[in-house]
Amino acid sequence: EKVVLAYSGGLDTTTLIPWLKETFDYEVICCCIDCGQGEELDGLDERAKLAGASKLYIEDITDDFCDNYIMPCVQANAVYENAYLLGTSMARPAISKRLVEVARKEGATAICHGATGKGNDQIRFELSIMALAPDLKIIAPWRMTDLWTLQSRDDEIAYCKAHGIDLPFDASHSYSRDRNLWHISHEGLELEDPSCEPNYADLLVLGNTPENAPDEDEYVTMTFEEGVPKTINGEAMKVSDIIRKLNELGGKHGIGIVDIVENRVVGMKSRGVYETPGGTILMEAHKQLEELVIDRATMEVKKDLGNKLAQVVYEGKWFTPLCEALRAFVKSTQKYVTGEVKFRLYKGNIIKAGTTSPYSLYNESLASFTTGDMYDHHDASGFITLFGLPLKVRAMKNLEVNNK
Ligand code: ARG
Ligand code: SIN
Repeated sequence: EKVVLAYSGGLDTTTLIPWLKETFDYEVICCCIDCGQGEELDGLDERAKLAGASKLYIEDITDDFCDNYIMPCVQANAVYENAYLLGTSMARPAISKRLVEVARKEGATAICHGATGKGNDQIRFELSIMALAPDLKIIAPWRMTDLWTLQSRDDEIAYCKAHGIDLPFDASHSYSRDRNLWHISHEGLELEDPSCEPNYADLLVLGNTPENAPDEDEYVTMTFEEGVPKTINGEAMKVSDIIRKLNELGGKHGIGIVDIVENRVVGMKSRGVYETPGGTILMEAHKQLEELVIDRATMEVKKDLGNKLAQVVYEGKWFTPLCEALRAFVKSTQKYVTGEVKFRLYKGNIIKAGTTSPYSLYNESLASFTTGDMYDHHDASGFITLFGLPLKVRAMKNLEVNNK
């Protein structure tokens, strides 16, 4: 029987190859899914084969990830606990979907992932696989404490050596990181103590701190069509390239560094630092345009549903009827989110520099203080009388009661 292993090329998932063979007698099909993490994938094939895998798939899903997972969340302005732009959360269902496709192609009966028993990722992988392929068995070695007995990187290196796998892994500990085109997350080391300031000099991968950013600001112009970014500084690009370009700009100007204590699904609080340079700009630019074209009542509901979507995505429930319905609502609000957004980047800040749209609901003659013919100031009197009626009724009642 075959198992598809979600493979990164790191020590943990490499050790899983001989372990899956030894423990379950599986034929191991490795699958490395590229979501734009920008890591060197050369040499991965030799490494997987050397460790005993019968095959390695390298699957580039970056565009699928950007178009079908990231963009719906950007359009929803989905942000978990007011801070986290869901980089890891959005990637898990996208990865799971491709793992299932590879499992089907190979006729595998199981999928194995290397997420721990304490985190959110196990939930996201498993709920996604359960929704897409309820018949596939899921193997989570980190939870099989009677079968998986390796306690440290040194144990893993020794286990590999004992199985004839001699690879240049270093024994040193680093942050626990997860990177894709949208973000990089950092957890562990000094971050585990919330009283400690992050050691940004060692930590940051995608850019500068605001204080190390250039002293000169930089203007950026973007256009959107129906909520999808189309050009940046006049150049047409697909979404993934726009995010790449924005990562470069945002990284340079110290944009999108967030340090939070968040509530994991499994009940604990955890402290992490996220770098989402391009994503932070894209979300802000999109929001800047929405302000102009989306009416107040729709915006109000959209805000609530966007928060709901963030929670649903964080919890790994991408492939659910609720998530689909939330995304459908958001999509229908994007019909007129077309126009041009200009802003400037300066030391961690995104500063508005003008917005235009053919669908702008902003009406200068309405808003300005000089009277036009569409707005009669006298109408406001009657409006306020009715709008304030319940307040007035209540206040009169209070007076009556208190004077008794
Ligand atoms: N706390 C974040 C989340 O739950 C990041 C998880 C990072 N995952 C990892 N395997 N390092 O989405
Ligand atoms: C893990 O525990 O595998 C990473 C962190 C998380 O999933 O929240």
